[in-house]
Order: sequence, then C-alpha cells, then structure tokens
Amino acid sequence: MAISEENKPVPLAVLISGRGSNLQALIRAWKDNELGGELRLVVSNRVDAGGLEKARDAGLETLVVPHGRYATREAYDRALVDVLNARDIKMVCLAGFMRLLGATFCEAFPMAVVNIHPSLLPAFPGMDAQRQALEHGVKVSGATVHFVTPALDDGPIILQRAVPVRDDDTPETLAKRILAVEHEIYPEAVRRTLCTDWTIDGRRVVFSHPPTSQHPVQP
Ligand code: GRF
Repeated sequence: MAISEENKPVPLAVLISGRGSNLQALIRAWKDNELGGELRLVVSNRVDAGGLEKARDAGLETLVVPHGRYATREAYDRALVDVLNARDIKMVCLAGFMRLLGATFCEAFPMAVVNIHPSLLPAFPGMDAQRQALEHGVKVSGATVHFVTPALDDGPIILQRAVPVRDDDTPETLAKRILAVEHEIYPEAVRRTLCTDWTIDGRRVVFSHPPTSQHPVQP
C-alpha cells in the first residue's frame, strides 16, 4: 500500500508542541517538491510553540488546540480528528508533539500517522532519549521514523539512521547530531510512505523498492 494512490498530492498535517525544526525540514522538502504530499495544516497543543511562526512564514494554516480544555484524552483526540477531517487531511506527521494519541485518533487515520523519535527504537522510548542513551553507555544511537499506535514509540518502523555516540558527548551534543539526521530522514520517510508501495508483515514495514539514498551510519 502506498498512501498516494491517485497521483494526487496527499493532504498532510503536522502536529507540534515546540520549536518545530522537523516541521521546518518537512516544509523545505515540500517547497522543493520532495515530500510527495501537500502540507496543508499545522496544529499545536501549545500557543507558544515556536513552530507556529515557521508554519505561518511558509503560508500554512495554523491552529492551536490546547489539550487543557478537554476533560479526557478521548475528547482531545476527537477534537483533533474533527479539525483534521474538516480539512480532508489524509496523513499526519507528529514532529515534537508532546501528547500521547489514543485509539480514537489512531483508528481515524489507520497507518497514516507517523512520528520521529531521537533514538534507534525500540531502545530508549519516551522522554530524554539522548540522555537515556548516554546513561546506558551505547556507542551508537540515532533516529527512527515509525507509524504511530496507541503504545508509546512502539509502531512499525519506516526508516532509521544510526549516529555514533562519542566519548565526550553530552545529551546536548548528541541531540544536535541526531537532530541533523532527523531533518534528513523525516522527509525521506514521508516520501517513501506516500510514494512507494509497502506492506506490513508482522511488525515489519516492507517496501517494494530499496531507498534511493543509503546512509547506514552518519559520521
Ligand atoms: C525531536 O528530537 C523529535 O525527534 C522529538 O522531539 C524533538 C522535536 O524537535 N520527537 P523539533 O520541535 O522538531 O525541533
């Protein structure tokens, strides 16, 4: 299955909570015609998210849907689904969106919600993945783009790239090198998901073609 089946650009939304550097990478790819979809909407749960300005600068519609106004996760999920459906959004990219999405949301967009995480999942899910990696003493970490399921950072993996951990790394220096890789693989993963045929075999996302670029390890 590829999401783009009629040769029409798929309408995409990006959900953010913060500075939006991955959003910026997606915007850049979209403007360069390399995303395979059409960015249409950016939603933040926080009014002070820096990414909102990046979205406005790119001419995108922005919405703030503050989670605090909703009594339950289910009600919040439903509100998000409603704003996305009202704009005919077909795929959702989480880019530093700091809320867990439940079954209501995931079932509204089956295998069409993707997330980026700053570790090689399943290692170090959740918060402070770079600090977790350093504390564990791994020599290699990286970034993962995966489909979103109600379980935290657990859905089928679309694309990963490794980043070596240096002996003198701090969480900040490691995060910076991983972030540079995130900005490369997120647009690439979205493009592959939209434009390449794929199937899910157990937990494996199996693509009909190998990736055009091969970067197993980032120096
Ligand atoms: C990134 O490290 C991403 O992997 C994680 O949250 C961070 C968001 O950064 N989920 P930004 O807002 O995209 O700059």
